[in-house]
Amino acid sequence: MNLIFLGPPGAGKGTQAKRLQDRFGIVQISTGDMLRAEVAAGSEVGLQAKAVMEAGQLVSDDILVRMLGNRITRPDCAAGFILDGFPRTEPQAVALDDMLLSRGLRLDAVLELRVDAAALVERIGGRFTCAKCGAGYHDSFKRPAADGTCDVCGGHEFTRRADDKRETVAARLDAYERQTAPIVPHYAKLGLLHAVDGMAEMDAVTAEIMAVLDNLPSTASV
Ligand code: AP5
Repeated sequence: MNLIFLGPPGAGKGTQAKRLQDRFGIVQISTGDMLRAEVAAGSEVGLQAKAVMEAGQLVSDDILVRMLGNRITRPDCAAGFILDGFPRTEPQAVALDDMLLSRGLRLDAVLELRVDAAALVERIGGRFTCAKCGAGYHDSFKRPAADGTCDVCGGHEFTRRADDKRETVAARLDAYERQTAPIVPHYAKLGLLHAVDGMAEMDAVTAEIMAVLDNLPSTASV
């Protein structure tokens, strides 16, 4: 099963993609995580991406298309993948269509998480992550069971993303509206688009996504 999660920053794409990954054994491909790994490694791509990301802008299509093209040919994608953060522009959407066609692959669904702008700002502002295993938390909506200890790995260090500062979030939301929202109709025309109420609680969002996937003809037996 090959899926795309679309939605603005903080809509819950990463949260829900991780849940589906665990449930279906398909791999989450987060281009944001891949870029952050490049930045942390100090690679050439990371050096080019760092300032752009911290300004809340989009990294160049050339870099992203090359990165995604390499990623989806890895063996762990054979059972399927969830694209989280790609495509984000019209050229990326066109490149993805070509990539899938040339590899004999197809998309099963595009899930668009819809969330109000005010809620997005609150979600991003409260987000933090376990430095050891990457498990995601939120100051209000998802605290670790024991304060200061990761539920998943027991780690005690947490990080906050450099681009989650309030002033950068405004730029990221603007980039979404200008460059990413216009690709939504492309997937509607292909009959692949499913809007999901991302304002609901996390479990309710997962349930709505599962209902969509259960009703896809090709995944009814998963
Ligand atoms: P990326 O890492 O993709 O960030 P994003 O799209 O801005 O999305 P986020 O990770 O911020 O949010 P999310 O929707 O995953 O929400 P989450 O589940 O964490 O991209 C970062 C940057 O990299 C970009 O700005 C760009 O510069 C660059 N980049 C990446 N891909 C690119 C591309 N293709 N082209 C060009 N540049 C690219 O949830 C957020 C918080 O809310 C969490 O704390 C969570 O616990 C909480 N939460 C989640 N769901 C709920 C809920 N239902 N109720 C309450 N709280 C919730």
